[in-house]
Amino acid sequence: MLAGKRIVLGVTGGIAAYKAVEVCRRMVDAGAHVVPVMTKGAEHFVGRTTLSALASEPVQTSLWDEASPIPHTRLGQTADLIVVAPATARLLAAYAAGLSTDLLTNTLLATRAPVVVCPAMHTEMWEHPAVQANIATLRARGVHIVDPESGRLAGGDVGHGRLAAPERIVAAVEGVLASVADMDGWHVVVSAGGTREPIDAVRVIANRSSGKQGYAVAAEAAARGARVTLVSTVDLQAPAGCTVVPVETAAQMQAALESVAPGADVVVMSAAVADFRPVAAAPGKIKKHEGVPQIVLEPTPDILAGLGARKPAGQVLVGFAAETDDLLANAAGKLQRKRLDLIVANDVGAPGVGFQHDTNAVTLLRADASGAAVVAATVALTDKRSIAKAVLDAVVDIRRGLTPPA
Ligand code: CTP
Repeated sequence: MLAGKRIVLGVTGGIAAYKAVEVCRRMVDAGAHVVPVMTKGAEHFVGRTTLSALASEPVQTSLWDEASPIPHTRLGQTADLIVVAPATARLLAAYAAGLSTDLLTNTLLATRAPVVVCPAMHTEMWEHPAVQANIATLRARGVHIVDPESGRLAGGDVGHGRLAAPERIVAAVEGVLASVADMDGWHVVVSAGGTREPIDAVRVIANRSSGKQGYAVAAEAAARGARVTLVSTVDLQAPAGCTVVPVETAAQMQAALESVAPGADVVVMSAAVADFRPVAAAPGKIKKHEGVPQIVLEPTPDILAGLGARKPAGQVLVGFAAETDDLLANAAGKLQRKRLDLIVANDVGAPGVGFQHDTNAVTLLRADASGAAVVAATVALTDKRSIAKAVLDAVVDIRRGLTPPA
């Protein structure tokens, strides 16, 4: 996985900086071209000469280099991956805040390559809410975090916060490189947000969906090389590389999806579609003095069931099930009725889960060869980008014909 890959290795100022030497050596041995970048703090802990001797190029530390006037953009643009090991609390804060103070932070902001960050610090610092908030921000943006381990820390202390072992860091880098382009050339269609069904000229029947989970799926698919069409009812910042088709009602969403889904490799239906809509919207505003209006509802089409009935061979169709009761049984029923390959079941009654939250917790059910529902993965409460990763990992397995682990 590492052969021929250009990896920027960022080293910041923590006692674990000496382990970066081993990370560097292992990546070079595996055939990577490793470009080391050290912060000023790192130089207190590990010698430039050591790292330069083992890496593929001499260590770089400065933004101001006459031979290469803008080194951070060159480093950022040419990297296949950036790994920061160890990453101090200060680096995490600067990166989360978008602060560019030195060559490493500038490079991190100037790249579109995947980034792996390996924090290392004292237990108290690691557990500090500010550090954990920065970790959550970075994770939500798609940064891969290699969690620290428990063990001996600087000054003889023992606790959680020790840099992950070099072999774990290198395995994480390989895993990210393997997943990075695993949707290259695919067309992925994602629906996001809640539909709005007009009652009159000013009022709608809406729901609590924020669209955040669908946008996270779209961003993750684009990061993995897919061409993404995002059929959306919400006005969020479009993820890079996604074409947005704005819609409002279930009928508009159905029309948009029926035009793009037949040619898609994957369709992820994360939108919350209204099940009922007013038969006819009043053309003007319904006035209070006219009395309590009688709003007659009719069912909307089940868009996903329609896509399932006409699913082209090889397409992976993913639905969501937002439930408050009997989560798995209800989700399994939808998987079968709507002829899906995968359903993302979330218990929207649980704290921090589903609508409007930045976090989610899900169970992924997929259809086995006989069409019965089997658990493919369970993901505990985490940010929506990590949920998106798990969903697309399962999608990739389904396309490759892989079965879930027993
Ligand atoms: N869905 C759809 N069209 C609808 C309703 C739902 O395409 N009219 C899709 C949703 O986008 C979701 C899946 O079907 O991916 C399940 O939606 P959900 O609201 O959980 O299920 P329903 O089929 O509406 O069933 P119920 O209301 O009984 O839970």
